Amino acid sequence: MPIIAAFNSKGGSAKSTALIALADALARREATVSVIDTDPQRTIAHWREKAVSSPIRVVEETNSANIHRLIREESSRSAWVFIDMAGFTSDMRTPIISRADLVIIPMQPSPEDARLAAAAFAYIATDEETLGRPIERRVLWARTTPNFVTRVERKIRDEVEENNIPAFTTHLHERSAYKAMMVGTTLAELDPAEYNGIDKAIINSDLLAAELIENVMEIQNRKKENAA
Ligand SMILES: Nc1ncnc2c1ncn2[C@@H]1O[C@H](COP(=O)(O)OP(=O)(O)OP(=O)(O)O)[C@@H](O)[C@H]1O
Ligand SMILES: [Mg+2]
Repeated sequence: MPIIAAFNSKGGSAKSTALIALADALARREATVSVIDTDPQRTIAHWREKAVSSPIRVVEETNSANIHRLIREESSRSAWVFIDMAGFTSDMRTPIISRADLVIIPMQPSPEDARLAAAAFAYIATDEETLGRPIERRVLWARTTPNFVTRVERKIRDEVEENNIPAFTTHLHERSAYKAMMVGTTLAELDPAEYNGIDKAIINSDLLAAELIENVMEIQNRKKENAA
């Protein structure tokens, strides 16, 4: 059962939005998803209280002593386990990262976000040292404008590539539907009379979920080959 964590010690980088968009897209495919909300801000737990019709299961845990057991329990319950992490680092980081099959690093391609995301990459490098193995991670470019790349954005994306940090080809585009979803609903339930681009956000999150599935399959195959 894939365990996917969203991590970026830079606050407001779209971790919670990316996970809900992905979980919502997987739920549309009838997959079962548990989200463990480890952020004391309770963004996803709060979303769940409002999004009553969503089949996504949300559990909260802010104590590092309980996280391994909870991940184990949720793994036996749901096909996918997502873990939302806080916008700062804590003693939850290494236990979560050590259990994740993939760490998604949502990041906006702006100079300030890139500067602050460097800390997140450094934390992951520290965890790799501690664990003595590489950690699968992918940058998820967030809040980008569809079909438009600024020169600054291109430069930041090139820098990430030069540092051998893989990134999702699909971006989490800037969409008011994503913002509205976070208030406590699924994308499909939003009223098209009230919000623009709901269909586009659905297509965007479907593509992202498809890429996530592909990535996870590749990672699992590679693990099997290495173990053989
Ligand atoms: N793709 C998007 N389109 C529109 N708005 C977005 C998008 N992604 C994130 N946002 C908005 O950006 C803000 C921060 O997003 P979010 O809460 O997902 O970030 P976070 O990394 O989880 O933050 P924190 O570190 O505080 O947990 C929110 O107001 C959210 O609605
Ligand atoms: Mg969050």
